Amino acid sequence: MKRQLFLFPSLALIAAASLGLTNCNKSNSGDTIRIGEFASLTGKEATFGTSSHEGTLLAVEEINAAGGVLGKKLELLTEDDQSKSGEPANAVNKLISKDNVVAILGEVSSGRSKEAAPICQGNKVPMISPASTNPDVTQKGDYIFRVCFTDILQGKVLANFAMKTLKATRVAVLTDVKNEYSKGLAKYFKAAYTAAGGAVAVELDYNGGEKDFKGQLTTIKGAGVQAIFIPGYYAEVALLCIQAKQLGITVPLFGGDGWESPDLTGVGKDAVDGQYFSTHCDAESPEPVVKAFVEGYKKRFDGKVPDAMAMLGYDSAKILADAIKRAGSTDGAKLRDAIAQTKDFPGVTGKITIDAERNATKPMVILQVRNGKLNLVETINP
Ligand code: PHE
Repeated sequence: MKRQLFLFPSLALIAAASLGLTNCNKSNSGDTIRIGEFASLTGKEATFGTSSHEGTLLAVEEINAAGGVLGKKLELLTEDDQSKSGEPANAVNKLISKDNVVAILGEVSSGRSKEAAPICQGNKVPMISPASTNPDVTQKGDYIFRVCFTDILQGKVLANFAMKTLKATRVAVLTDVKNEYSKGLAKYFKAAYTAAGGAVAVELDYNGGEKDFKGQLTTIKGAGVQAIFIPGYYAEVALLCIQAKQLGITVPLFGGDGWESPDLTGVGKDAVDGQYFSTHCDAESPEPVVKAFVEGYKKRFDGKVPDAMAMLGYDSAKILADAIKRAGSTDGAKLRDAIAQTKDFPGVTGKITIDAERNATKPMVILQVRNGKLNLVETINP
């Protein structure tokens, strides 16, 4: 684990130590309110964690500049889980037992959120995932929340998109069987697509981390499908697009939010041109809240255009701060109740209401890559 501290950590530590408060009941007791974050800042999905962290950090900085919460500044403690399983458990255990954080923000990847959730639940420390869409994540317990939609909805939207927009009634599905998100999204897509009358002509697997997909793509090429659904993460998807192009596959490839990364076009180049994916929001949206966020983010991060993870990270921190304010306390149970009561919160990714299952129902967008840029194809309101 690599660790980063933001906001006068030494002051807080000195204050806590001099008051004899280190390792005391989590809180509130120091000068700051400590919030934990775990993210894939390095490793295979480094762009996911980097983006969500930047969005989260920007929100914390804005909140602190406006005076903080309950008269205290927020202190963000970030752990890098290196995109590796096993590390999320280490990260949240440390944040909870050593750093005494009042709540935890993370992760983007559903597999890594699922690993950390039972630990947060067991310690009664609220956890808010900005971007994990697998339904199981929030079923780990009543302290586990997300500020995004789930893959039950994403699978349905993609099935409709395949039928109605792509007019594809016969597709291939290529799943990363090492990835919880990929397996779930494949399942929900298939259910909705076949219910709508579509046929999944061929279903094949790969293992995240692999680099050669020519075998699977050759089989798919021979199956006479009208489109190829790949519910995976960008690192493999970029290579899949390149190899599909090399094999002369001309039908469209499409996927879900896991495609979103600057590396999709950075690595995939013209091989991803024309392909589609669904995601949480569109940075080009003319909505005033989105415009203001994009401007603030660009200013803070050297002109970089924010992606969905950045916007969701930002929303997760703002929702947590709002809940602390409404709870008037950082007590775990009070904080959990306040997060659960979040209603019509004006997020940059849309209005956020936490439902009884601790999920958010939100609009979704389908984007198409054209000349290396992302273009809005459709917005789907739930
Ligand atoms: N939804 C993905 C998952 O659950 C993560 C993700 C979110 C990826 C948003 C990109 C954008 O694993």
